[in-house]
Amino acid sequence: MPGSFDPVTLGHLDVIERAAGLFDELHVLVVHNPSKTALLPVAQRVELIETSIREAGFAGNITVASWSVGLLVDYCTDVGASVLVKGIRSQVDVAYETPMAIVNRNLAHVETVFLLPDPAHAHVSSSLVRQVAGLGGDVSPYVPRAVAALLEPGTSSDLL
Ligand code: PNS
Repeated sequence: MPGSFDPVTLGHLDVIERAAGLFDELHVLVVHNPSKTALLPVAQRVELIETSIREAGFAGNITVASWSVGLLVDYCTDVGASVLVKGIRSQVDVAYETPMAIVNRNLAHVETVFLLPDPAHAHVSSSLVRQVAGLGGDVSPYVPRAVAALLEPGTSSDLL
């Protein structure tokens, strides 16, 4: 399950839990997306996902890693993964994800499976969380405890 996870949200965690229940092994992969202005360093995003998964008590078949060089499908080949998992909140997500899914299939026969999150999380996105936190708002309803603690109002403006 690749993504920017900048930061991980409760919507991501919901999809991670569902995917871990469907596959023998799940790799949650933090990928640097050069088209987005990052809030958190990749290593910190990985740590926050690991902490959140541990605190949520998810199954032990989840690995968290990062990938910054080369194609996403190269990582898949390296670890022997044949399926990508993406969460889909709306038709906008379908339109964004469809070309990537087709390119990844053409590149390396890696299929993409789209999972629907709990509708309770349908409005939650990392970009919204970044914006609310950056303007001093409370993001605790949308993110795991570790992320809320990091982004709570009053956090150093160096970070946001
Ligand atoms: O959470 P995001 O930012 O929507 O995730 C997008 C991401 C990182 C999964 C996407 O940009 C990606 O797959 N990047 C890897 C580079 C790559 O392999 N590109 C070619 C096929 S899409």
